[in-house]
Amino acid sequence: MFGEETQTGDREDDESDDGRGLLGRLLPFGVAFLAGFLVGRRRDGGSGELAPSGPDVEDVTREAKNAVGTGEEESEEDEESEEGEETIEAGAAADEIPEEVEAVEAPSTHGMPMFGLGTYDMDDYDECVESVRTALETGYRHVDTAEGYHNEEAVGDAIAEADVDREELFVATKISPENLDYDQVLTNAEESLDRLGLDYVDLLYVHWPTGDYEATDTLDAFAELREEGLIEEIGVSNFTVELLEEAIEVSEEPIFANQVEMHPLLAQTELQQFCAQDDADVELVAYSPIARGAVDDVEVLQEIAEKHEATPAQVSLAWLREKGVTAIPKAAGEDHIRENWLSLGVDLDDDDVDRIDDIDREERIVDPDAAPWN
Ligand SMILES: NC(=O)c1ccc[n+]([C@@H]2O[C@H](COP(=O)([O-])OP(=O)(O)OC[C@H]3O[C@@H](n4cnc5c(N)ncnc54)[C@H](OP(=O)(O)O)[C@@H]3O)[C@@H](O)[C@H]2O)c1
Repeated sequence: MFGEETQTGDREDDESDDGRGLLGRLLPFGVAFLAGFLVGRRRDGGSGELAPSGPDVEDVTREAKNAVGTGEEESEEDEESEEGEETIEAGAAADEIPEEVEAVEAPSTHGMPMFGLGTYDMDDYDECVESVRTALETGYRHVDTAEGYHNEEAVGDAIAEADVDREELFVATKISPENLDYDQVLTNAEESLDRLGLDYVDLLYVHWPTGDYEATDTLDAFAELREEGLIEEIGVSNFTVELLEEAIEVSEEPIFANQVEMHPLLAQTELQQFCAQDDADVELVAYSPIARGAVDDVEVLQEIAEKHEATPAQVSLAWLREKGVTAIPKAAGEDHIRENWLSLGVDLDDDDVDRIDDIDREERIVDPDAAPWN
């Protein structure tokens, strides 16, 4: 039931500080360098950490500055729509990674890269392999899947093909609510590992606190998996503050993260405050971080995007980062994968953040009747 991320018709579904601080230091030059790539995307209406080993902060800044700023690079999509204009990197091979893309790095929090690829709705094997492969080549090091997405094998094959060390990767999957009794958790976690072709996952979530979820029984099994080394961290998803409190209380092992819907149209203020408390210390991971594209239509985000020569989707992702929240936007094609990745170079100021905080809407996309908040 919850393997599929239910969509309602009406829109309403650390030291994370170290991520904010790092980025602030990492990319003080803002996003002027993104302009060439992004300007075209705005023209079409915006539709269109472990820090991986790589250059240090200064080098990233310098390389990015040197690499870009011509204002000429545009996406392939724009090439189609605006005949005669240059593509994202004129003359480059289609699968070559532009330097400005390579120069960007995701900050991390407690070993989790604060930016990842979501894979919901990627149930076509070839498409999923291709998307994950493209993301890993782009620089993504965090991939989010679930047994309910029916794509763990494709995700695993893309990881196996990629030229990235396992230790650099952060792979998260989830156990579906109908499989959350003690024995089933143990069985299904091993099945997920088999499909992924991995010895361990970095994070295993309780997908929804429904179905067979019973806090002590379920989390005892998660603790056993952690003790056996099959999972690095225990996560929960779609938990309210009350459910999170219960999970923290009964779990023998720390609750590392709560994955919830979060974007500028659903700020999750209460959860943010709760997770940031020292005695909770839970990472927030935002799913549907661009509200499945709905952020494109929000005027405030459009204005801030224009100011930063970015897109509303990038501004939304940058806002989440400012909040110390990890974002896992799903993107199938190279254009969106790169556009989202380049949000790591969008440096919002306090005024931008305040304006987005003031949007004050409560619009959930993923809102099944059985959700704990209903
Ligand atoms: N724990 C849960 O219960 C739960 C629930 C929902 C989602 N999730 C996880 O969170 C991930 C992300 O959430 P989501 O898939 O619901 O929503 P999302 O990431 O907010 O939006 C994905 C949609 O936006 C499009 N898109 C991507 N980048 C874009 C851009 N720069 N501009 C315009 N459109 C863009 C994608 O199209 P293309 O694919 O064509 O690029 C796709 O249709 C999921 O994939 C999944 O891994 C978890």
